[in-house]
Amino acid sequence: MGDDPLLGPPTRSPSAAVVPSVPATVASPYRSAAGDEKGARTRRARGRLWLLLLALVVVGAPLGLTLAGPHELRWRAQLFWGKLLGDYRDIPLACFVRWLRPHSPVDLHPLLENHTARAAILNTFTDEAAATEGAKIYAVNCARCHGDKGTGGVAPSLVASLGRLSDWTYFATAKWGRPGTLMIPQPLTDRQIWLTHAHVRHLVNAASRAAGQSGVQRFDVKVDAETLLAATEGDGDWLSYAGSYNGHRHSRLAQIAKPNVGALRLAFSAQFHTAEESIHATPIAAGGLLFVSLAGGRVTAIDARSGRTVWEFLHELPAGTKSYGATGNRGVAILGDSLYVATIDAHLLAIEASTGRLRWDIKVAAGNDLYTMTAAPLAVRDRVIVGVGGGDYGARGFLAAFSAADGRRLWQFDTVPGPGQFGHETWAGDSWKNGGSGTWVTGAYDKDLDLVYWGVGNAAPVYRPDLRAGDDLFSSSAIALDLATGELRWHFQFTPADEHDYDSAQQPIVADIEWQGKTVPALLWANRNAFFYALDRRDGRFLFAKPFAKQNWSKGFEPNGRPISNPAADPSAAGTLVWPWVGGATNWQPPSYDAERGLVFVPTIDAAALFFRDDSGLEHGQVYRGGASRLDDNEPATAAVRAIDARTGAIRWEGRLERGLDVYTGIGGVLSTAGGLTLIGYRDELVAFDSDGGQELWRVRLGGAISAAPVAYAIDGQQFIAITAGRSLFVFTLPAGSAGAPAPTPKPSAATAAPPR
Ligand code: HEC
Repeated sequence: MGDDPLLGPPTRSPSAAVVPSVPATVASPYRSAAGDEKGARTRRARGRLWLLLLALVVVGAPLGLTLAGPHELRWRAQLFWGKLLGDYRDIPLACFVRWLRPHSPVDLHPLLENHTARAAILNTFTDEAAATEGAKIYAVNCARCHGDKGTGGVAPSLVASLGRLSDWTYFATAKWGRPGTLMIPQPLTDRQIWLTHAHVRHLVNAASRAAGQSGVQRFDVKVDAETLLAATEGDGDWLSYAGSYNGHRHSRLAQIAKPNVGALRLAFSAQFHTAEESIHATPIAAGGLLFVSLAGGRVTAIDARSGRTVWEFLHELPAGTKSYGATGNRGVAILGDSLYVATIDAHLLAIEASTGRLRWDIKVAAGNDLYTMTAAPLAVRDRVIVGVGGGDYGARGFLAAFSAADGRRLWQFDTVPGPGQFGHETWAGDSWKNGGSGTWVTGAYDKDLDLVYWGVGNAAPVYRPDLRAGDDLFSSSAIALDLATGELRWHFQFTPADEHDYDSAQQPIVADIEWQGKTVPALLWANRNAFFYALDRRDGRFLFAKPFAKQNWSKGFEPNGRPISNPAADPSAAGTLVWPWVGGATNWQPPSYDAERGLVFVPTIDAAALFFRDDSGLEHGQVYRGGASRLDDNEPATAAVRAIDARTGAIRWEGRLERGLDVYTGIGGVLSTAGGLTLIGYRDELVAFDSDGGQELWRVRLGGAISAAPVAYAIDGQQFIAITAGRSLFVFTLPAGSAGAPAPTPKPSAATAAPPR
């Protein structure tokens, strides 16, 4: 299920999250009394005429000017027109109109490019004189609460806040106050507020100059596109969701290895204020910082050596934002000196990596139109690719690319094709309008073919293929898109006309394998439907599929890879027992690939569920279901990491985590390393297995549920392993003096490192 509401706390009966939908229409209070007089009617008609004329002037004038006015008038008319249509909601209409005037203290012009006030509206009073004038206003109006030096008193430190507050938020807080706090609206003019801002910024600059002199480390993070293209995991940093574009999640660092893993100790931990019970994010390690994203779209930067918090970015959500069953945030992308994060209200943000300042903010989809975003973006070359969730609620999936520089939309690929688009006929009637096919897990990229590979979620309503008769492209598929244009190069549908919630929201693995005596550029895929697939990644040709967990929904495959589905596994009114369960044999928690050993390590839940089909959950704004699924009380299940031979699909070993009647929750993603370790979290423990035989080598209890995958990074030759658990980040390293540490290991030499791909 897209952005899975089912993978929360353990449940033996599915929780149908009920979200209040659009308020019912209120009956009109105006009713014409019987025997209404004719005079009143004409008066009303005349009144209406006036209203119509007024509306024509209000609407027509800006529209006319937008199309044909002089430049100075044109952009203003354009903004005003946008405001009338419902944009720029965070600015009250009266202020908006006032600020449109020439020489206004609030410059609205940048809103044309960047639709949110937070990103677009900047303080234009920036010179020394403004700061000096602002100091006087500050002393009189703000100092008694925020402190003489801006460092706080009964009210928070504005010097500390400024790094993460947008200019607009500062301005808006001073202008309108914070309801329910001592921070009341300030009796200042707009210009005076900006002058206090100039003063506080001046204080911040002075403080950071002083810090620079006193030796507190300042960070200057920059990762250029070429570095990202050349990156192999474990070059020291962990630069993208999967460590590198090929989706391997395999670290070449070998300082922490089989013989010494037992000596690992905690280097530091960091706790976060976050709504989620189990952080989903893969941390990114770059330039001496770790970036952890949190529920909604918050980001915290941590000193990767000491654990000190360097900055926090708070994404401000509009009131009434709904999460539609989505939880957490899976991570950020880095490119140049910016981080990119997708938010629960379906925005994409660019944040300055060194400071946490917002650079731009664009709307990817209308958040309260059922869309959510939780996946880590993929930043490649000059663009940022993001997917959406909400498919289970009826949002129509798509994948989109945006300019890394300014957030301009470069292309969009609809994963539920509309009329005239390829594949549209695979949805019966109007069923395509009901959406599905979310793109809520990060894909992979092959720089030689210049193709982006992405997994697509299930069709909606999930248990009712009869309501959407056809294959429902591109639900439960892999798609390969041209990075430059977003055009579809090929697709492969793992589960046509899915009826068991078998999303293909998994991390694709780009790897070359031996196949029938030749080396084939393959795409490897451990799918939620319990099969491990190898495809030719040039054209999507099916090579083979092998089950890695018990399944009974498919009776085999046609030569082109189309499954022969088993009608006995169709959901039914009485309930049908089907393997794998609704959460799948694997889910979004990422696998890893060890190219040297030729093994894919897959987080696996081997379990069955009862699937029901009915007419429930077919309303707008609810989980769009048409049935239900319940875990079977009599079928024990297994949680494990399974090592799959990439050339044959055979299971080489299993690292057992638990077996019993209550194992369905809390498996994390995988990290494997050149030290011969396969690390995975289960419930609240992190476990290390021997990559060669699956023996357990080390286990530590962290006291918080693990959902994400660990990562490895190194600083000055010292290797660290980081994992989020509960609301915290834990970072492990070897103590000084244990084998392999802290004597710096050189970076992997060209001779030992396989060439990047
Ligand atoms: C009577 C005390 C008081 C005065 C005077 C006051 N503030 Fe505040 N201010 C507060 C409090 C308390 C908060 C924290 C509100 C909250 O809990 O969110 C706050 C918060 C803020 C914030 C948001 C900080 C953040 O980290 O989110 C800004 C910006 C701010 N004030 C600016 C000003 C400016 C500018 C002035 C002077 C023009 C001013 N305040 C005067 C009490 C005051």
